[in-house]
Amino acid sequence: MKHTGIKVFAPASVGNVIVGFDIMGLALNKPGDEIIARFSDKPGLRITKVTGAKGRIPSEVEKNTASVAALSFLDHIGEKGKGIEIEIHKKMPFASGLGSSAASAVAGVFAMNELFKRPLQKRELLPFAVKGEELASKALHADNVAPSLMGGIIFIRNNHELDIQRLPAPKGLYATVIHPKIEIKTSESRGVLNKHITLNNHVLQSGNLGGFIIGLFKSDFDLIGRSLNDILIEPQRAGLIPGFKDVKNAALEQGALGCSISGAGPSIFALSANSFIAENVGSAMQKVFHDLKIDSELFISTINPEGAFKY
Ligand code: HSE
Repeated sequence: MKHTGIKVFAPASVGNVIVGFDIMGLALNKPGDEIIARFSDKPGLRITKVTGAKGRIPSEVEKNTASVAALSFLDHIGEKGKGIEIEIHKKMPFASGLGSSAASAVAGVFAMNELFKRPLQKRELLPFAVKGEELASKALHADNVAPSLMGGIIFIRNNHELDIQRLPAPKGLYATVIHPKIEIKTSESRGVLNKHITLNNHVLQSGNLGGFIIGLFKSDFDLIGRSLNDILIEPQRAGLIPGFKDVKNAALEQGALGCSISGAGPSIFALSANSFIAENVGSAMQKVFHDLKIDSELFISTINPEGAFKY
């Protein structure tokens, strides 16, 4: 017997947000991943269909980000043996810096919670989504998973405790994200990072992080702009992305508040104070990649307030 299913969406996200390496992320409206889930008469969780992945994601449940997150949730609610089928529809690029694996993990666990009629609150799904993301990124950081699940701009006081706080998104704030069609593995982009930082850089980066957060609370775009300066990570990763400096300069020339690498790259994002600037910034960024003969796709988005949802 074919059971009726439910369909959920989990959005892409921008990790780090320039000054919050591994501890801050924001949710975009699009792109994102969709999962359809339904009960089945065959026991156990199965992946019955994957689209949009060009054969690149495993359909074995123990190896797939979405199903690993789903399984850990099912284990928690005592339903691991229950017959369930999921279809995964990947609607965003891999290894892009847009939180692709996080969106899959979030969609996986969110779909299970909806299928079982919400035994847990949305916030309580975070640890299970992190399990799926950990499988893909081989590191524990919730700066993509948390905003993809919860929406908004999320600050993570501690990734191990998953102590997260939602930051206010000032009215008018837009994210412009450009994805050059090259791939950078998160592990490679993390591999270039020096494990040690100087005291001076720690002081500068802490000042910028604090300034950015206060700017969000006060809707003070000048303070936000002054604070969006990554002393620590961007200088070490910029060389991995062809044209990065030119793209960043083009965004700032068009009035972006700040511009940097989205997550582990190669996507580059900028924040702007209104949609008009955000669109001009996007055109300028895209022109740089066009001149370099690198295909790119552009996403312009308000800060997604909702995160994962059921259609
Ligand atoms: N915070 C992570 C990084 C995000 O920048 O490496 C990547 O998924």
